[in-house]
Amino acid sequence: MTGLLVSLLLVVVAVILRWRRPAWYWMPFGVTFAALRVAIRYASVMDACGLTVPPARWRLSLARMANRPVPESQAPRILRFRPTRTGLLLRLKLRPGQDAFDVTSATDRLRHSFGMYGVTSREVRSGVVELRMTGYDVLQRVQMPAETDREPMRIPVALREDGSVHYRDYRTVPHGLTLGATESGKSVYQRNLIAGLAAHDVALVGIDCKQGVELFPLARRFSALADNPDTALELLEALVQHMEDVYQLIRSAQRITVDVPDADIAADIWDLPADLRPTPVVVLVDEVAELALFATKDEEKRRDRIVTALVRLAQLGRAAGIYLEICGQRFGSELGKGITMLRAQLTGRTAHRVNDESSANMAFGDIAPDAVLAAIQIPTDVPGIAVSGDSTGGWTRIRAPHTSLRQAVNICNRHADRTPDVPALAAFRPAVASLAPAAAPLTKAAPSTA
Ligand SMILES: Nc1ncnc2c1ncn2[C@@H]1O[C@H](COP(=O)(O)OP(=O)(O)OP(=O)(O)O)[C@@H](O)[C@H]1O
Ligand SMILES: [Mg+2]
Repeated sequence: MTGLLVSLLLVVVAVILRWRRPAWYWMPFGVTFAALRVAIRYASVMDACGLTVPPARWRLSLARMANRPVPESQAPRILRFRPTRTGLLLRLKLRPGQDAFDVTSATDRLRHSFGMYGVTSREVRSGVVELRMTGYDVLQRVQMPAETDREPMRIPVALREDGSVHYRDYRTVPHGLTLGATESGKSVYQRNLIAGLAAHDVALVGIDCKQGVELFPLARRFSALADNPDTALELLEALVQHMEDVYQLIRSAQRITVDVPDADIAADIWDLPADLRPTPVVVLVDEVAELALFATKDEEKRRDRIVTALVRLAQLGRAAGIYLEICGQRFGSELGKGITMLRAQLTGRTAHRVNDESSANMAFGDIAPDAVLAAIQIPTDVPGIAVSGDSTGGWTRIRAPHTSLRQAVNICNRHADRTPDVPALAAFRPAVASLAPAAAPLTKAAPSTA
């Protein structure tokens, strides 16, 4: 009787968890059922999905000589089978005659056959393919794993649809562009980046032409901030000056003589000894179009200088440890000359929901054409979902965790002591004491009826 009650209770708990908290359901229950299902059905599913090959000739001859039944077709051999926080991981050794594309094109069939939420595949090395299966929609309620890689300038910023962590690695992809329609989740993505960067030894520089509403609350972790195009121009020109100073420093540290090994010749800040190395700078620009729009002749001159400074930073900044992170709703040639040249330097592309194909083309048209379709298909009711691609042509769907402004402010305040002073940018350091303005109400208070 007690046994029956306990089983009944377990079933009820499992059903409720599966419905309300799929991530909690997965670890004790989902993973057990899924692992059993895959282990039992593996051979027949592979056969049904067209992923088996006929037996080798020598096996056929051997069977014929021994008068044994004809051997069955063979599925890829399982090299590794591992449950993960969000699904299962299967590493397969392909049989002769199979290729990674066979597996990629069968992922949807495998998903249905194994009863999983999603299946993706990637080639690990020649002849070895990894299948990542997810047991539930991991992007529905994003929970980042507690343990992520900790490397300098590599920020775990979002979760990928296959359950792995999406990193923004500034040392491999120095500059990034994030596009998306209004309310699509760009600023939340950028906020996650800032919260991740806050714990690193890096100077943060922000340009937020929405009068600073997104970045100024995080000011205690920022070494320089600008909230209008005029200040932004001065700030960018100061950054170009800083970049030139860093190059002078690298040159003076180079000292190429015959006894210096090749690997020790400094060509960027990371080759310099730690005590000489200037702090890397990440420049975050929100609503970039504001910097490129103009109405008068003077504003046009300012715009040209801003775009020129940005292009110079994008072209030359990497070795000086200056990285650009640009956000906007659109970023195409209609914003005037220099914009497509700047865009070409921004390797890391992320597109949130866009309203039309041309906006998606601005992010992926020149690097990953199939990502354009994926970006257009992002539904309107799940803000934060994005498609992220890079210049290798690969892309993936990601979603950042929903970090509120309050959480980001707390993280930035906790790491405020890490905020470095960049002498060239001293004039733009936000005055933190004056950051809590007693803003006058925009609407008049309703007259008292008393
Ligand atoms: N990753 C996410 N998870 C859950 N909700 C999100 C996520 N990202 C954004 N949202 C929701 O969408 C709203 C709009 O997000 P956000 O302010 O980042 O959009 P935006 O693209 O910057 O818009 P705008 O162009 O108007 O500045 C947020 O207030 C938040 O409620
Ligand atoms: Mg925004």
